[in-house]
Amino acid sequence: MIRVLDQKKILLGVSGSIAAYKAADLASKLTQAGAIVKVVLSPAAKKFITPLTFQSVTGQKTYTDEDLWSGEGHVLHIGLGMETDLMVVAPASADTIARLAHGLADNFLCLAALTVHCPIIVAPAMDSGMYTHPATQANLTILRERGMIFVGPAEGRMASGLVGLGRMVEPTELFGMIRYVLGREGDLKGKHIIVTAGGTAEPIDAVRAITNRSSGKQGFAIAQAAIDHGADVTLIAANTSLTTPVGLKRINVITAREMQGQIMNAIQNADALIMAAAVADFQPEKSEIQKIKKEEGIPEIRLTYTPDILGEVSQYREKTGFPKIVVGFAAESQNLIRNASQKLESKNLDLIVANDISASDAGFAVDTNRVTLIHKNGKVEPYPLMHKEDVAELIIDRLVQLFQE
Ligand code: CTP
Repeated sequence: MIRVLDQKKILLGVSGSIAAYKAADLASKLTQAGAIVKVVLSPAAKKFITPLTFQSVTGQKTYTDEDLWSGEGHVLHIGLGMETDLMVVAPASADTIARLAHGLADNFLCLAALTVHCPIIVAPAMDSGMYTHPATQANLTILRERGMIFVGPAEGRMASGLVGLGRMVEPTELFGMIRYVLGREGDLKGKHIIVTAGGTAEPIDAVRAITNRSSGKQGFAIAQAAIDHGADVTLIAANTSLTTPVGLKRINVITAREMQGQIMNAIQNADALIMAAAVADFQPEKSEIQKIKKEEGIPEIRLTYTPDILGEVSQYREKTGFPKIVVGFAAESQNLIRNASQKLESKNLDLIVANDISASDAGFAVDTNRVTLIHKNGKVEPYPLMHKEDVAELIIDRLVQLFQE
């Protein structure tokens, strides 16, 4: 279950395109995340996919034009419109986009779009020539000005075999946009939150580096949870190829020094910094521009300290008051509470997320984590093994509380 989606009523309008199969995947993902997904198929969509497909993955009724003309038809679309939290039209064909732009109501999908009082996300899917046609572009402009939110289309191979702009975006991207739109009025609306993730890499030479096993998963999950709560998020990511959550600003860095520079730049006026990145503590004193060759013998690598980023953040905060809240992490292999409490104090944090990295199922490079939250006032909250997404929700919940205090 994903909290921002739980029990949300989503109306998915599917129009006539081969990308309709992707809509079935989207409906399934949304349902698994806790949303109540009702689907409306346009007459052309029914040629590509059946109501049964959607009913099977959503457990809800899927509507077609036959329902519109059945006994309950005249109230059905109004009722659906009133209860819907978010409408998604995916795939949106050129024909459906034209109908929506001109307010036509000659099929259930378009009728529903006229009755909802919620945001509408549209994922176009068509041949690139049709997409770039002035008629379609003019229709898109009308809908954009009316506040509809467009995702895609993407570039790639289309049904015709041609390559171009016109593919419907992948369900995961739409899913991210749905989370973003549903969350944007959340309890962190208007708050600028910086999240760091991943592990820094300190170069030895042109190809080698000192790094650590951090995957970035926990930091990315925190960034996503902050978006779910409506925050304006900057994610500073070190050496991770994880997919960027929809709706945030991502800055990629490699070294601790680069991360320090980006953080110091971003924290001016920031409301919170969540320092989930595993920053290297040591870096080679100098890094060779060229690759060190084996025949030169075993190199001696002298190390120095990397900048203590949270230390510098703490000094900046004393002077300026920003960021208002700082959350740190403590990766410990022994004396978890004692070591983490010391870090909370020495780094002047509001909250520290301590995790025992000696366990194989928690901490670095796995999907689960076992954390203990230690607050500035001395409160200690131990938690069992949880998914990193749930840990992220927990941390963001505590952040919301800190803002309220
Ligand atoms: N951190 C930092 N700058 C560094 C190293 C770490 O800001 N140069 C941050 C990490 O992002 C984390 C917190 O400090 O939020 C604690 O990191 P950790 O590596 O556990 O602690 P250290 O202070 O480096 O102490 P040690 O490695 O000796 O346990």
